[in-house]
Amino acid sequence: MSIIEAKNLWKEYGRDVVLEDVHLRVAAGDFVTVVGASGCGKSTFLRMLLGEETPTRGTLLLDGAAMPEEPGPDRGVVFQKYSVFPHLTALGNVLLAEELEQANITARLLGRPRREAMARAQAMLERVGLADAADKYPSQLSGGMQQRLAIAQALMKNPRILLLDEPFGALDPGIRKDMHALILELWERLDITIFMVTHDLKEGFDLGTRLLVFDKTRVDPHAPNAYGATITYDIPLQQGLRSDDRLPAAVRAGLSSTPDEESA
Ligand SMILES: Nc1ncnc2c1ncn2[C@@H]1O[C@H](COP(=O)(O)OP(=O)(O)O)[C@@H](O)[C@H]1O
Ligand SMILES: [Mg+2]
Repeated sequence: MSIIEAKNLWKEYGRDVVLEDVHLRVAAGDFVTVVGASGCGKSTFLRMLLGEETPTRGTLLLDGAAMPEEPGPDRGVVFQKYSVFPHLTALGNVLLAEELEQANITARLLGRPRREAMARAQAMLERVGLADAADKYPSQLSGGMQQRLAIAQALMKNPRILLLDEPFGALDPGIRKDMHALILELWERLDITIFMVTHDLKEGFDLGTRLLVFDKTRVDPHAPNAYGATITYDIPLQQGLRSDDRLPAAVRAGLSSTPDEESA
């Protein structure tokens, strides 16, 4: 069974069509990379997978059942920036995921549950390479370290699906290489399904087991938002066989080559 299935999925805001007629089946364990022009609905699609937005038409299934209409612990998310809380230390940020899961937001963990949660949080920081930064605040961390922290936070509840919206878009190319190694290691070790939006086509080909291109198949010059984007290419990728030659130059030219503006 597919972990995610979209059938004739549409998303409209008023009269603006963002996505139309999206069909997709994704198997558990896939690493799906998503590219497309700026504003074509990639983040919107991710937000629907998160449960933060609902489709206006069509079907979106999680494990064969209707996608819950709110985010849940089985789906973690990392944005390009600002996923971490500036007033909490690295450890506090990772711990927060756990504390929020407890009965209510004001109840902070105490005693043994707290010690256990601290141990899990510390282990998660180690896993993303932040073992020595537990007591630092985000402002004391580099951009790459902040994104490591955001990933740790997203993984604390053991999600089965990790949603990444241009998570490395604001980082220097050198640091991005380290982040690629980290995300591939986590994907393999934790046996999770990943959806990752990127503006970097090479990143999409290098990391994914499958690359999706979102694009509009019809355009009305007098009404730019009359039609939405859909999946125009769905390319299976295999280790050693990855090359962006497999996309026509015209498609490559239409993709955004800079990170999207954060809309949050
Ligand atoms: N909450 C919203 N209300 C109205 N329009 C929205 C909303 N969210 C996104 N949009 C519009 O949907 C389109 C797709 O946005 P987005 O998914 O952020 O694109 P991408 O991530 O591909 O750059 C944009 O035209 C954007 O303005
Ligand atoms: Mg976006």
